[in-house]
Amino acid sequence: MWFYEKKTQYPVKIKKTDPRMAKYILSQYGGPDGELAASLRYLSQRYAMPTPEAIATLNDIGTEELAHFEMIGSMVYQLTKDASIEQIKATDNGVYYTDHDKGIYPSTGTGVPFNAAYIQSKGDPMADIHEDMAAEQKARATYEHLLDLADDPDVMEPLKFLREREIVHFQRFGEVMDKLQEYLNSKKYF
Ligand SMILES: [Fe+2]
Repeated sequence: MWFYEKKTQYPVKIKKTDPRMAKYILSQYGGPDGELAASLRYLSQRYAMPTPEAIATLNDIGTEELAHFEMIGSMVYQLTKDASIEQIKATDNGVYYTDHDKGIYPSTGTGVPFNAAYIQSKGDPMADIHEDMAAEQKARATYEHLLDLADDPDVMEPLKFLREREIVHFQRFGEVMDKLQEYLNSKKYF
């Protein structure tokens, strides 16, 4: 079970409306390399991990990704909540507006809904941990692309924090992978 803390993991306080940036960032909410995918991937894969440390790491990071999902939702909301119809039309966000108005919906910026096919839970510890390390690199790259597109420090600071966390997660999964390898080798008798 989880306990909820009524604050985001890192402050999100965006003052300037920018529906175009919201459209770009939305992919980290419901897109292929986004935070929802990360969270569901790790929280689902953890059951089949063979060591308590691997289970705990996936549980821990999967939980943190949910907090990142919340941060991204807050960013998209703050960037769009005061947007005028003119701004929405000017940034070609009308398709999203048609279906969701100012609601926050897990999809890409072009409206492709979240899909569990973005993730795998293979039941094979090495296959899963390799996927997780790749996922962290893809999320890191996505945050770098978003930072290229951003210019407001209120937007850039949370994005930088999230990028850093992906690097930490990649390193932690790397440690788990080494230990899993040792564990799996120790089980082989020739
Ligand atoms: Fe991550």
